Amino acid sequence: MVKIGDIELPDFPLLLAPMEDVSDPPFRALCKEQGADVVYTEFVSSEGLIRNAAKSVMKLDIYEKERPVGIQIFGANMESMLQTIDIVEKSNPDIIDINFGCPVKKVVSKGAGAGILKDICLMEQLTAEMVKRTNLPVTVKTRLGWDHDSIKIVEVAERLQDVGCKAISIHGRTRAQMYKGEADWKPIAEVKNNPRMHIPVFGNGDVDTPEKAMLMRDSYGLDGAMIGRASIGNPWFFKQVKHFFETGEHLGPISLAERVEAARRHLQMAIDWKGETLGVFETRRHYTNYFKGIPHFKEYRMKMVTSDDSKDVFAAFDEVLDKFADYQF
Ligand SMILES: Cc1cc2nc3c(=O)[nH]c(=O)nc-3n(C[C@H](O)[C@H](O)[C@H](O)COP(=O)(O)O)c2cc1C
Repeated sequence: MVKIGDIELPDFPLLLAPMEDVSDPPFRALCKEQGADVVYTEFVSSEGLIRNAAKSVMKLDIYEKERPVGIQIFGANMESMLQTIDIVEKSNPDIIDINFGCPVKKVVSKGAGAGILKDICLMEQLTAEMVKRTNLPVTVKTRLGWDHDSIKIVEVAERLQDVGCKAISIHGRTRAQMYKGEADWKPIAEVKNNPRMHIPVFGNGDVDTPEKAMLMRDSYGLDGAMIGRASIGNPWFFKQVKHFFETGEHLGPISLAERVEAARRHLQMAIDWKGETLGVFETRRHYTNYFKGIPHFKEYRMKMVTSDDSKDVFAAFDEVLDKFADYQF
């Protein structure tokens, strides 16, 4: 059994990665239904939260049905991050996760996200103070290092553990790599093999087949896999991995009916959450992913992404079901 603080998880849990504009409550709920053991929100700005910015505050919404859920925050200013803990606690998440891995310039240039990999002492202090501020388990998501020449992840992970971090998820790339090249899981395995480590070490990066998840478990010996891009448009990925673990066989393809049903539920949950206008608008970006691969789909996609009325979008789903009934994924 794997534990994050007092949260008990099955062996080799599968975690939905935090993903900006993807890991919203409806998507997280769908992933949870399909087997994700822990889900994380997209990153939320501590500076946005302490200024009560509506966009940031909305990202704190969580559904009961998605638990255990972690809210991920980012920032580099100690006072703002500590105030953020107090704000985030009001949403009653199960976990607070610190983003020490985001590589984008506007985050890194302020010393936040992966920017903090240039100042390990601050990374350690921020984690220590945040752990002291809350009774919730604090976890960290980070990368291997700033660049190839400065990889110290074994030491970093141990220091974070020693100040009370309850689990660490490591993306097997450096900041300099952004998303290029292949994720390297060897340094993550070195973290896990450090005899001083006792908190769960989750591997992240390029797990896009059940076989790779199995490799991460059996050959690299990690405690669980955090899955990002493979779940986009495919919340069934978690079920596919678990089925493979249990049977050694691949689950059959996801049918059109299941895809339409997911899109339908996603839209309905988004409307229930944010209201008709925002719900319709913000679910648009997910449709291409659910229906990826269907040829001559443009006409239907356009209906889905240009209609302002949910009735028209639901009608487009019905049309798709009818028109592409024979399509095999
Ligand atoms: C669209 C998108 C948004 C992301 N947003 C976040 C984020 O908000 N916080 C974070 O820690 N990582 C974020 N990431 C990184 C992922 O969590 C993950 O580390 C990365 O995609 C590698 O895992 P994968 O190969 O399974 O996708 C994002 C990645 C993508 C593709």
